Amino acid sequence: MNRDRSAPFVITIDGPAGSGKSTTAREVARRLGWHHLDSGALYRALTLAVRRMGIPEIEWHALTDDIFLQPEISIAPAGTRLEVLLDGSDPGPGLRDAETTRLASILAKNPRARARLTGVQRSALDFGSVVADGRDMGSVIFPDADLKVFLTASLEERARRRLLQDGRAVDGRSVRREAERIRHRDRTDATREVAPLRSPPGALEIDTTEVSFHAQVRRIVGAATEAAGTLTGQAPEK
Ligand code: DC
Repeated sequence: MNRDRSAPFVITIDGPAGSGKSTTAREVARRLGWHHLDSGALYRALTLAVRRMGIPEIEWHALTDDIFLQPEISIAPAGTRLEVLLDGSDPGPGLRDAETTRLASILAKNPRARARLTGVQRSALDFGSVVADGRDMGSVIFPDADLKVFLTASLEERARRRLLQDGRAVDGRSVRREAERIRHRDRTDATREVAPLRSPPGALEIDTTEVSFHAQVRRIVGAATEAAGTLTGQAPEK
C-alpha cells in the first residue's frame, strides 16, 4: 500500500485479452476524475514503430535497445484519458489493426521492449492519480498500488465481446474462431518469461462473465473509495 498521501493514488486493472479491462478502467477513471493509462496502447505504439522500420518478424525476438529507443513514445492528458503519442502524434488506426495486435504479443515477450516502456508507464503519475490497465500493472509497474484488480471472463464471452467491439458478426463459428485466437494470445501472455500475466497477490478478482458492466465498475469504484478513505481518512482527491 502506498502510504505517502502526497503521492497520487493508483488502481491497477490486469487481466487477459477481452476481459474488459480497458473499458472498465476508462469508466472507473471517468467516475473518479483520475487518468486512465491503457498500457496495451504503449505496446501497440512500439509495435507499430518497429513495423514501420520494416524489420522482418523473424528478427523481432532479438531486437536491441537502440531500436526501441528510436521512436519517441510518450503520454499526454486528454480529459481523463492519457493519450499515447508516437513521435509526438496520434499513431492512427494502425494501432488497433489485426497485424499490430498479433505482433504486439510477440514484441511484449522481449524484455528490452518491456524495459523501454517501464518509465513511460510510471510517468503517468506525473499527471496525478491513475487507473492503469494491462497485464503487469499490479505485479511489475505499480507494485505498491492502492488497489489491485484482476478481471476474468469465460473464453467464449471474451471472444463475443471482442467481435462486438470490432463490429464483426457474432455467430457460433466466428465466436469459436475468435476464442481460438484469444486462447493462443493468452498462452503467449501467460507463459512468457518476463512479466507473465498473473493475478497479483491481494488483488480483487472479478469474473465478469455474468456481472453487468455497471455493477463491476461500481464495485471497483467502491473498493477504491474505501481504500483511499482508509489511508487518508477522507475521500480520494479528484
Ligand atoms: O491489451 P492490448 O490487447 O491492447 O495489449 C496488446 C499486447 O501488449 C498484448 O499482446 C499484451 C501486451 N501487453 C503486455 O504484455 N503488458 C501490458 N501491460 C499491456 C499489454
